[in-house]
Amino acid sequence: MTKSNLSLRLERPEDYYAVEELTREAFWRSIRGFCDEHLLVHRMRNVPAFVRELDYVAEMDGRIVGNIMYTRARIEDASGEAHEVLTFGPLSVLPGYQNRGIGRALMRHTFEEARKLGWRAIVIFGHPDYYPRIGFRRASEFGLTTADGKNFDAFMALPLYEGALEGIQGRFFIDPVFENLDENDVLEFDKGFPPKERYVPVPVSVLMSRLDADKVKAVKELGCAYLDELTHRSEREIMSAEGIDEKAVEIIRQVMLEHGWRWGTK
Ligand SMILES: CC(C)(COP(=O)(O)OP(=O)(O)OC[C@H]1O[C@@H](n2cnc3c(N)ncnc32)[C@H](O)[C@@H]1OP(=O)(O)O)[C@@H](O)C(=O)NCCC(=O)NCCS
Repeated sequence: MTKSNLSLRLERPEDYYAVEELTREAFWRSIRGFCDEHLLVHRMRNVPAFVRELDYVAEMDGRIVGNIMYTRARIEDASGEAHEVLTFGPLSVLPGYQNRGIGRALMRHTFEEARKLGWRAIVIFGHPDYYPRIGFRRASEFGLTTADGKNFDAFMALPLYEGALEGIQGRFFIDPVFENLDENDVLEFDKGFPPKERYVPVPVSVLMSRLDADKVKAVKELGCAYLDELTHRSEREIMSAEGIDEKAVEIIRQVMLEHGWRWGTK
């Protein structure tokens, strides 16, 4: 891993297009065949919840190869009181530059900046086995639920200092900018970028031929049509499914990797 020519700095208006294009490249592999995160980035910069002071880009080899963006979010406790926290996303690293520590560097730097700015915690929805490497824990461990009262491993929190979330429990709400990304708006917006073939999601059947019959049944019961959907589930969640053992998890990890997905705790 070489990070020698990596530098981090705040995003500038002249970077907007490059950052949207990089976001598009990083997120393109979506089960819809295209992504909407580049439109999200475009809109996010104009909402009051956007935290400009934490909008960082990573530069390497003289180009922008990574970006992280934050918005204000809130935890509403049982009495209805709101406690402000941060959420980040998109976090994007250009495919050719992934696994070189750029995502981690963007997070580490902005976590420290956020702490200095007085923020107490970051709550996110994200790859459930990636973010724990940087210190995130399941949101349920802090007494948090999603806005509709749910919990799953991809929902995680990180207090920015000791005890930052003590006494703060409740439902987590994000800004409405994340909603209403209408497909027609996305496709219209996408015309402003170089033509790109739609992504074809990988059916979960590619995994089935590699597993024993009882494991096939167990994987079917997970209810994922495409391999891509497994990226939202943690290794722990898959392991806890009836009939899945370590050998099956190893095969899943291997097949995911063959299709370009980093998955699991190893
Ligand atoms: C996810 C992403 C931001 C990570 O950034 P990155 O710069 O590639 O990651 P880092 O170099 O900091 O970390 C890489 C390590 O994390 C692991 N990792 C990466 N993605 C992972 C995942 N989804 N699940 C588990 N581990 C993962 C790698 O295996 C690697 O492990 P190693 O250090 O033991 O080799 C980047 O891959 C990306 O932009 N992906 C596409 C967009 C996306 O999914 N964004 C996040 C949405 S939640």
